[in-house]
Amino acid sequence: MRIGLIGTGRIGAFHAETLAGLPAVTGVVVHDADERSARAVADRIGATRAADLDGLLGSGVDGVVIAAPTFAHAELILAAARAGLPVFCEKPVAGTLQETDAVLAALDGTGVPLHIGFQRRFDAGYLAVREAVADGRLGWTHTLRACTSDPAPPHAGYIPGSGGIFRDCSVHDYDIVRWVTGREVVEVYATGANRGEEFFAAAGDVDTGVTLLTLDDGTLATCTATRYNGAGYDVRLEVCGSRGTLVAGLTDHSPLTSAEGAAWPAGTPHPGFMERFLDAYRAELSAFTEVVAGTRPSPCTGRDARAALAVADAATRSRAEGRPVRLATVAA
Ligand SMILES: NC(=O)c1ccc[n+]([C@@H]2O[C@H](COP(=O)([O-])OP(=O)(O)OC[C@H]3O[C@@H](n4cnc5c(N)ncnc54)[C@H](O)[C@@H]3O)[C@@H](O)[C@H]2O)c1
Repeated sequence: MRIGLIGTGRIGAFHAETLAGLPAVTGVVVHDADERSARAVADRIGATRAADLDGLLGSGVDGVVIAAPTFAHAELILAAARAGLPVFCEKPVAGTLQETDAVLAALDGTGVPLHIGFQRRFDAGYLAVREAVADGRLGWTHTLRACTSDPAPPHAGYIPGSGGIFRDCSVHDYDIVRWVTGREVVEVYATGANRGEEFFAAAGDVDTGVTLLTLDDGTLATCTATRYNGAGYDVRLEVCGSRGTLVAGLTDHSPLTSAEGAAWPAGTPHPGFMERFLDAYRAELSAFTEVVAGTRPSPCTGRDARAALAVADAATRSRAEGRPVRLATVAA
């Protein structure tokens, strides 16, 4: 099958290489608003370049991968759907719940599948934890501890358009907490701090945030996120139950040091998300080829992405107002 790729920036260029290496993919057509970027990626992976969006959508591709910036997602998803093409879109569907709802309503009844890119759902550790929760090995779960820690902040210009740390970083944890437990979030309390560079506060954001989630069965989950984890890139989930605890992301690459002098973890930390989730991104795009082929439903739907965004919105409001927020008050 042939896949169209829209957006060849940081994650798009990475997805281009992955797509080109998938056995199911016989050709890739790329388009980027920045022609030089598209040309460079097309040359590198041996893809065809489309000069504009219509050119890509009309090029005979079987499905479309969207890796343009968040503000462009809604419009691009709708354009691909109008062309009848299955869509993979990097998270989120759109920047706001209102816009997300408009996209989902437009897709309803069209039969066009939408797969949103929450790649942790394809990571071996997270998959194992989900299975252990589902088969009851851990007993009943009482506490989840999720963390998303970046070694260093992105450039200052990225922050004002990022949606804030809860929508940009913790949203992955909100999605995975729902997916691992199969439960819904009912209440959110979030707080944050700025002890790093001033551009976070200037954008109304924080460089470090903590969210406390209450799930509908009473399980409690904390999601921590920071832009200043000097020890290295750290993405983990600890699931603690009445009979056992299982941790995803605790490997020789974990940027942790034992205060008691234990010699483990012994390896070097992953530099960032691309190295940490290399296999997961490949499995995710491979799953999308099955969605395109019609052999599996979307493994992460627009409704899933909406649910994670609603938690992020609640966290953003909770921090701003300094109080717990019931999800029903933002998600309706
Ligand atoms: N799942 C993940 O782990 C993960 C990681 C990083 C980024 N993302 C998501 O991926 C998206 C892209 O992020 P990025 O860091 O690669 O951004 P980026 O700015 O590096 O790249 C975006 C590219 O899209 C192009 N572009 C802009 N508007 C366009 C349009 N209308 N049509 C075609 N091309 C257009 C830009 O020229 C640029 O090359 C964001 O929505 C982000 O949330 C997800």
